Amino acid sequence: MTILVTTPNGSVGRYVTEALRDRDDVRFLVRSAAGAEALGAVKGEIVRGNAADPAAVRRAVAGVERLYLAHPFAADQAAVETGLGLAALDAGAHRIVKLGARPFPKAAGTVPDPVTGAHDTVVARLRDAGVPELTVLRPDRFLQNVLPAAADIAAGTLADPGGAEAARGYVDTRDIAEVAVAELLADRPVGGEIDISGPEALTPGRLAERFAAVLGRPVRYADVPLDAAWRAGLAGRGVPPWQVDGLYGLYANYRREGTAGLGDGVRRVLGRAPRSAADFAADLLAPAVAAALSGA
Ligand SMILES: NC(=O)c1ccc[n+]([C@@H]2O[C@H](COP(=O)([O-])OP(=O)(O)OC[C@H]3O[C@@H](n4cnc5c(N)ncnc54)[C@H](OP(=O)(O)O)[C@@H]3O)[C@@H](O)[C@H]2O)c1
Repeated sequence: MTILVTTPNGSVGRYVTEALRDRDDVRFLVRSAAGAEALGAVKGEIVRGNAADPAAVRRAVAGVERLYLAHPFAADQAAVETGLGLAALDAGAHRIVKLGARPFPKAAGTVPDPVTGAHDTVVARLRDAGVPELTVLRPDRFLQNVLPAAADIAAGTLADPGGAEAARGYVDTRDIAEVAVAELLADRPVGGEIDISGPEALTPGRLAERFAAVLGRPVRYADVPLDAAWRAGLAGRGVPPWQVDGLYGLYANYRREGTAGLGDGVRRVLGRAPRSAADFAADLLAPAVAAALSGA
């Protein structure tokens, strides 16, 4: 069996890599020399190439039987992921574990947005193509999204544009990766759509309280309105307009949905409770905050 892992340094992919680095039947698709370096030692094979390059994709999928399929939000996300998935299928793959996202319920007054829309497009194409074993992971917002803001959290602020009233089942990407790996390796995968969340729906205010309790320092949530200043801030950091529009659509949907339902995927696939925000804060946020405080 050969397994191909895409985005092996990604927020989820790095933990998929962690679990599979000692196997010799795993191939990792990385774009750059820096990406290969970041991967560290692996027993399997590293294939260098851009997922948007059909020739590189053909090299990556040759002889592959199972695929972990993920891609960041990008203008060409649906095309790249579909290309990877269909190429793997042509090469004889029979199982795809695709990283998607929790869909928004229409009843909540949400509207189609480009971020979750890309997943709908990819999944529809894979289904049409008749992937024999297709697992679609549908996680809620990642706890790991806050790590780049560790310095702000150290200074006492958790800023977020997702809306003060939006309670979500923030999920630790280590759990998503464990579910993905279980689905990749199982003789008989659970398959289908697997909704994944943390153990409780938290507003960002409550999330800040959970962090504060573990860190032993004040952390207060600050709402970031989806206004012209927010757009200008992203543009100033070089985020292109299509991406700003996509993020606007996503955050506006979080605000419209309010309290999101929880997903039972961790329990269903792994037979245990999902990690909590406190677990994440103790294991990963606290060291990042300590590093920020020490100026590292
Ligand atoms: N963040 C959330 O809260 C959330 C919630 C639910 C679902 N999701 C979904 O999660 C997915 C992203 O997963 P993730 O966060 O694990 O990934 P990620 O961290 O965004 O993935 C980044 C990795 O992708 C690689 N990459 C980017 N473009 C590439 C290309 N053209 N060819 C080869 N490699 C490329 C990058 O390689 P380099 O190092 O070379 O740049 C980098 O290592 C998205 O589809 C999103 O919708 C996210």
